[in-house]
Amino acid sequence: MTASIISGKELAQEKRRQLAEEVKGLKEQGITPGLTIILVGDNPASLSYIKGKQKASEEIGVAFKLEHFSEKMTEEELLNVIETYNEDDSCHGILVQLPLPEHISEKAVIEKISPEKDVDGFHPLNVGQMMVGQDTFLPCTPAGIVEMIKSAGIEISGKHVVVVGRSNIVGKPAGILLLNEHATVTYCHSRTPNLKEMTRQADILIAAVGKANFITGDHLKEGAAVIDVGVNRLDTGKLCGDVVFEDAMNKASHITPVPGGVGPMTITMLAHNVVKSAKKSAV
Ligand code: GUN
Repeated sequence: MTASIISGKELAQEKRRQLAEEVKGLKEQGITPGLTIILVGDNPASLSYIKGKQKASEEIGVAFKLEHFSEKMTEEELLNVIETYNEDDSCHGILVQLPLPEHISEKAVIEKISPEKDVDGFHPLNVGQMMVGQDTFLPCTPAGIVEMIKSAGIEISGKHVVVVGRSNIVGKPAGILLLNEHATVTYCHSRTPNLKEMTRQADILIAAVGKANFITGDHLKEGAAVIDVGVNRLDTGKLCGDVVFEDAMNKASHITPVPGGVGPMTITMLAHNVVKSAKKSAV
């Protein structure tokens, strides 16, 4: 079997065109969707992710603002900056880029962001609404994963989804969103014995481990759809996913590439959430 490649890049382009149209409409009503990203420190990966978010925002017509602070910033100072944007009507979305320096509590920061501007979907209120299937800001990577699976025409209902990885940002919510789409969901992680026995049962495998080339052909059932969430930089500087791409090409029905897979969709879903927030402010 040769797998079909699900191009996140192409799907993202299509979605960005639709979002640009929506933004045009909002601007005609005098509303320009605004996104503020707050970065503390100079983590190179964060800077690179933010560049992508800025480019997509500008492409779509979202007003983008970066607040970049020294890693010596205190938690209190950061909470005050968030408060300023919570109260700023021209700002529809606030994203504090993670990871934060160790002296700042991630929990305190996430809970400070107004749930109405929490375009990451990380605030406990939004996480709770997602759990019970209510309309809310969905976390961007998991929402992008669901869009990609649907775009490829893959049935989710009744399928066995195996999620490898249990982070609060990707693994856990990806499983919940797919459960809400009526999949049977199994979570695996670093303490799961016999991982291959579990992953070989997957009709849809979500690889969100964060280890280069961790998932090999041996982990896959013939004809499974494989979503590779990993973004790993090899010593050569090359980006690669959590899945050995050639193995998936030979055994899976579908595979998402790295780069050009989940990454562009994550950024697009962020823009989707900013536009959603701006639309709410219009009513
Ligand atoms: N760092 C890595 N991924 C993310 C994300 O989706 N949102 C935020 N805020 N920080 C991140």
